[in-house]
Amino acid sequence: MKGVSGNRRLFAVIGIAIVIGFAVLAWAAIRPGPMDFAGATVALSDYDGDMTGVPEDFQSTDPIARGGYLADAADCLACHTAEGGEAFAGGRAFVTDFGTIYSTNISPDVETGIGGWSDADFVRAVHEGVSRNGDWLYPAFPYAAYTYLTESDVLAIKEFLFVQPPVRRVPPDNTLRFPYNQRWLMRFWAMLYNPNERFRPVADRSLAWNRGAYMVEALGHCGDCHTPRTPLQSLDNRRKFGGGLAEGWRAYNLSSHESSGIGSWSADDFESYLKTGRAENRGSAFGPMAEAVHLSFKRMTDSDIGAIVEYVRSVPPVETPDLPTVRMQPAAPDPLAGASADDNPRGLEIYSAACAGCHGWTGENDLVPHSTFTGSRAVNDPTATNVALATIHGASSLASPDGAVAMMPAFGEIYSDDDIAAVSNYVVARFGASPPAITAEDVARLRETH
Ligand code: HEC
Ligand code: HEC
Ligand code: HEC
Repeated sequence: MKGVSGNRRLFAVIGIAIVIGFAVLAWAAIRPGPMDFAGATVALSDYDGDMTGVPEDFQSTDPIARGGYLADAADCLACHTAEGGEAFAGGRAFVTDFGTIYSTNISPDVETGIGGWSDADFVRAVHEGVSRNGDWLYPAFPYAAYTYLTESDVLAIKEFLFVQPPVRRVPPDNTLRFPYNQRWLMRFWAMLYNPNERFRPVADRSLAWNRGAYMVEALGHCGDCHTPRTPLQSLDNRRKFGGGLAEGWRAYNLSSHESSGIGSWSADDFESYLKTGRAENRGSAFGPMAEAVHLSFKRMTDSDIGAIVEYVRSVPPVETPDLPTVRMQPAAPDPLAGASADDNPRGLEIYSAACAGCHGWTGENDLVPHSTFTGSRAVNDPTATNVALATIHGASSLASPDGAVAMMPAFGEIYSDDDIAAVSNYVVARFGASPPAITAEDVARLRETH
């Protein structure tokens, strides 16, 4: 008798677990689309005006240059080039909680790249996340965004890629753990999270706004870094632009929230940030954002930057509880002012030896204006994540051949995890708005994300 009631209980527990499981799955599966906040959409052909392709103020009529413009806007180069490697030859490592994924070779080499791919193969990969051999691709490749591209834009990108130098290179094998190494599972991911549909404009919004939406949602994939993810790695558009992670770096809140987002930024601040990697008293772009500025946003026309800004500014506010209002005043010039110096002598020592020369004691230095800490979100982030990463890897949004000023060197090799935690805490305590809390263990973990 005991056995029967035990079984009954077991079945009841299993039954409840299944119901909860399905409820969780349904909740996870039913996520708003990236543009659902804006209202009803219509088919492209029903909208008066075309927001796809290259913008009107893009001068070149050469089809290859047009494909290049779109490939830059989609930032294919950044992910498909290894550090110091040849363009588009793949092999860049993406370290995830589930293991490491390497990007593929998309140069036109026939054997190791995509030189043998037909138009249909390429369109299927970009829209559906399926490789030429039928393998399902991991969403580290943002095809759930690129799926919104028109077919002619995808083919323009292909045409551009196919005139790049072919490179023979086989990227390293992924080192994903079970069950993540089972590619076929990605089929279910795609079923749930890849809408596999082309861009649909919002009928009652302007052409510029819809162009911005196309740039952001189909090409620029800002949300891939700036929108938080669900446990199944889909974008959580219930908290659209509420802040996400990009290779360990915090990609901050881009919503119009006044204190946690960029609601207090003017349109000019935002345009300048995207075009130059910096805006007065808003900090500089560094890490993956600096790369996106360099390889992508900087190459866009003014009309496209303006459209992106208009669109992003229309996204409703989302609060990120751990991001306080950014402090807009410089620190006191006296190095020993404030309690932080006494609490953290090692941080003060390192700052004084290695940082103050460029960043000054107030966080502002007229000789290196783009190193200003005042108004920077990173310096006001109590987790100090990006401050520690900038210290480990250096920062260089202006380090392009045309604008190398005083770029910030990497300190990861010189300093221990304890040291980096100490100086990061010092910077946030002295120049930011809230008490910092990064430990040597956190720093050790951050080192592994690259
Ligand atoms: C955020 C990083 C990222 C960006 C941006 C990106 N890719 Fe990828 N891509 C990847 C990764 C990682 C893979 C490998 C996925 C896998 O192995 O499942 C990949 C795979 C691919 C594949 C499949 C190749 C094969 O051999 O199966 C193609 C094609 C491709 N990308 C083209 C593009 C194009 C075109 C662009 C720009 C429009 C682009 N990618 C932008 C990361 C990226
Ligand atoms: C040679 C000059 C130089 C030195 C030395 C230097 N930095 Fe920097 N740092 C810069 C510049 C320039 C930038 C802006 C980089 C950019 O353009 O993205 C910057 C950016 C930063 C940022 C990002 C600020 C933002 O805009 O949000 C942080 C944090 C930072 N530095 C911390 C440090 C710390 C900590 C040290 C000492 C361990 C240090 N820096 C040493 C020049 C320097
Ligand atoms: C590859 C990942 C990635 C992509 C794609 C990306 N960003 Fe970022 N972004 C970041 C990271 C990381 C930061 C934080 C580092 C910093 O402040 O430079 C950041 C910072 C920013 C900031 C500064 C926020 C603040 O409070 O200081 C703005 C504004 C921004 N991004 C806008 C955009 C827009 C608009 C797009 C798309 C057109 C975009 N980003 C695409 C990673 C990304």
